Amino acid sequence: MIVEPKVKGFICITAHPEGCREHVRRQMEYVKSKKPKACARAKKVLVIGASTGYGLASRICAAFGYGAATLGISFEKEASGKRTATPGYYNTKALEQYAKEAGLYAASINGDAFSDAVKAETIEKIRADFGQVDMVVYSLAAPRRTDRDGTVYTSVLKTTGSDYTNKTLDLQKNEIAQVTIPAANKEEELATVKVMGGQDWAEWIRQLAAAGVLAENAVTLAYSYIGPEITHPIYFNGTIGAAKKDVERTAKQLREEFSALGLKAYVSVNKGLVTQASSAIPIVPLYMCMLYKVMKEKGLHEGCIEQMARLFLERLVQDEVLVDDEGRIRMDDYEMREDVQEAVKAAWDAVTTENLAQYADIDGYFEDFYHMFGFRYENVDYTKDVEI
Ligand code: NAI
Repeated sequence: MIVEPKVKGFICITAHPEGCREHVRRQMEYVKSKKPKACARAKKVLVIGASTGYGLASRICAAFGYGAATLGISFEKEASGKRTATPGYYNTKALEQYAKEAGLYAASINGDAFSDAVKAETIEKIRADFGQVDMVVYSLAAPRRTDRDGTVYTSVLKTTGSDYTNKTLDLQKNEIAQVTIPAANKEEELATVKVMGGQDWAEWIRQLAAAGVLAENAVTLAYSYIGPEITHPIYFNGTIGAAKKDVERTAKQLREEFSALGLKAYVSVNKGLVTQASSAIPIVPLYMCMLYKVMKEKGLHEGCIEQMARLFLERLVQDEVLVDDEGRIRMDDYEMREDVQEAVKAAWDAVTTENLAQYADIDGYFEDFYHMFGFRYENVDYTKDVEI
């Protein structure tokens, strides 16, 4: 059928199979152009949350940067009737095909990463096909988690303490509006930590280690965000920030718990980018449009693949991985540069609906947004019938 974008709120409910393939192909070509170095630490890589955003870019770097065999876990929907599959489904198929063409092993499991069943299936697959994994990337961004006892925890994107009002971007009308973000109650904050905190990451590592499928001196990574003060009430000091602080505590805990195995557990603080997960956060898209504008003007802009290529091919290959005082890898170094943040802050104070284009890279935002769903690639013929 002919597939067109259908945008509802902050997501697109259709995805283009050929466009998603192009999305993966461009990222793969970028990584190949970086003259990858072989990395002795990562030849067999498990990526949890591997189908979109940072997880997909990580998998592409592992496969086409390190030449690693990859096993990817994600939770995506297949096509049914006239409904297209989700982008992550098409991305995963494309990645597997490109890996196969390159002579690389790539297998994927589609299911709920929080469940014991998927963890057990993953362990079986590793045993049968790999023996052991030497890198585990945890890049889940999930709205909810069903626990072992059947309790469903839902993450919320709220501030903590008291309600918070600031500017936001109404992406449907392209207007600056005011938004008030309600403060979460304790239960909502704890639920967000349960979903987006470090507990499930730790469970993965414990189960992999207990099954003997985690290699000695393996590396494990989880991703976080800090951002500037403008976004602190909604991010760093919000419910999601509480979860990220828990992820940081987990990294320290994992390093201690598995020191005998030589496990290196890192949190990488990445740049704010348009992904399915981040488009859902109020205030953040406006900040991102301004950040894109400033960083593009300064020649510093990076997308998921540029960020992950720098992480995998420049940082992780060092004998001594560069970390900050808290033990975190800082891939947000360009975003947090003083001159960048000063320019964004000035733009933030000045922006109105009337001068939006002067301060915010709305086109860049939408380009990334549509690309995520496989649309607006100039070399894909969207008038052609495609098999969904
Ligand atoms: P995303 O929405 O693009 O990717 C989420 C991935 O998780 C997908 O592969 C999806 O299939 C998978 N997933 C979701 N629920 C699942 C489940 N129950 N079982 C198995 N797989 C499941 O998100 P994004 O933005 O790439 O986020 C990944 C990580 O990076 C998150 O920890 C996020 O907080 C972090 N991060 C994101 C930044 C951003 O600006 N987008 C900035 C810095 C960190």
